[in-house]
Amino acid sequence: MDENKRNVLIDESSIKERIKIVAKEITKDYKGKKLYVLSLLRGSFIFTADLVREIDEKLKIGFMTTSSYGHNEESSGIVKVLNDIPDDITGYDVLVVDDIIDSGITMNFVINYVKERGASSVKSCVLLDKPSRRKLDLKPDYCCFEIDDVFVVGYGLNYGDHYRNVPYVFNWEK
Ligand code: IMP
Ligand code: MG
Repeated sequence: MDENKRNVLIDESSIKERIKIVAKEITKDYKGKKLYVLSLLRGSFIFTADLVREIDEKLKIGFMTTSSYGHNEESSGIVKVLNDIPDDITGYDVLVVDDIIDSGITMNFVINYVKERGASSVKSCVLLDKPSRRKLDLKPDYCCFEIDDVFVVGYGLNYGDHYRNVPYVFNWEK
């Protein structure tokens, strides 16, 4: 893709700045709690790596892979667990981290899944929120940026498994 045609939506320094603010809030809210950061692969790996380095609290990190998209831009509505939570999370205060909430189907599924596994509390944290696309009544507890109904890639987000390595978020246009 021609670099010049990339329509940057959120640049690197804005992401960095906003993550610091959100991480500070998380640090404050999880004082004295048993924080377990559950990062949803693959989309949130970069966001998680940057976020946890700004959280000044003792925490554990685990990764889970879910899939509902395949190679489509629209959710199929069915969430599959491709890689399960690697730890016993009983009694932990779980913070589910994802790249984006779109329909809300993925986050809603994971929140219920975590509750069923005996977590003390479950909250959600996303880099991006597309509230206009919501199919379920769900609001992220922590969100870095709200965006309009556009398909975006970069900073972990992909199209056809490409562009995750781009350090900023841009509008995907075919
Ligand atoms: P939801 O289940 O519809 O909320 O979708 C959540 C998942 O869809 C995210 O974890 C992303 O992997 C993917 N997704 C949703 N919107 C976008 C987008 O604009 N770009 C890339 N991936 C997206
Ligand atoms: Mg995802």
